[in-house]
Amino acid sequence: MRGLVVYYSHEGQGTIDFNVKQFAKGHTRIVAEKIADLTGSDILRIVPKEPYPVEYEACCERAKAEYESGARPEINMPLESIDAYDTVFLGFPIWYRSYPRVIATFVEKFDFSGKKVMPFCTNEEGGFGMADMQLASAIKAKGGTVAEGLSIRGKRVDGCDGAVRSWLGME
Ligand SMILES: Cc1cc2nc3c(=O)[nH]c(=O)nc-3n(C[C@H](O)[C@H](O)[C@H](O)COP(=O)(O)O)c2cc1C
Repeated sequence: MRGLVVYYSHEGQGTIDFNVKQFAKGHTRIVAEKIADLTGSDILRIVPKEPYPVEYEACCERAKAEYESGARPEINMPLESIDAYDTVFLGFPIWYRSYPRVIATFVEKFDFSGKKVMPFCTNEEGGFGMADMQLASAIKAKGGTVAEGLSIRGKRVDGCDGAVRSWLGME
């Protein structure tokens, strides 16, 4: 199995228990790096062409407008295809009970025929919200299959080894 970990994670300000704080690494990035380490997968961060503001409130404002308009923000993408991979671990923070629109941009760019997608997310509460159902239908439309996802609360990312290993079927 050759795996690719693809993720978006907001850099700069985020929240723990809804209190705004500065983070050196986004929560989803911490989980993504763990998955890549444990599986020996390649790892790729989704980088929006126009970066989201570092400040939490400004980020929310743009994210909300994009969500409401169904935007597909442009992303920088070094990959031309995902043909070399069998499994794509696709990670994101939950934004408005869904996934950030840059994830929609990524999914629509590629052919997922024969690929297995393993979604993972971080959030404050409420798990995947609508994101797992929405992602399953978006991936299916692109020919792929979706496995059960892994949801981790942002404040628990530092101690999530056991949950990640168990989701990967390693224990
Ligand atoms: C624009 C925005 C919207 C959010 N919406 C939700 C939400 O609907 N439900 C939730 O549990 N957390 C929500 N959060 C919190 C993030 O999902 C959570 O802090 C996540 O761990 C951030 O991951 P990151 O550091 O990788 O970006 C939101 C955060 C932002 C910035």
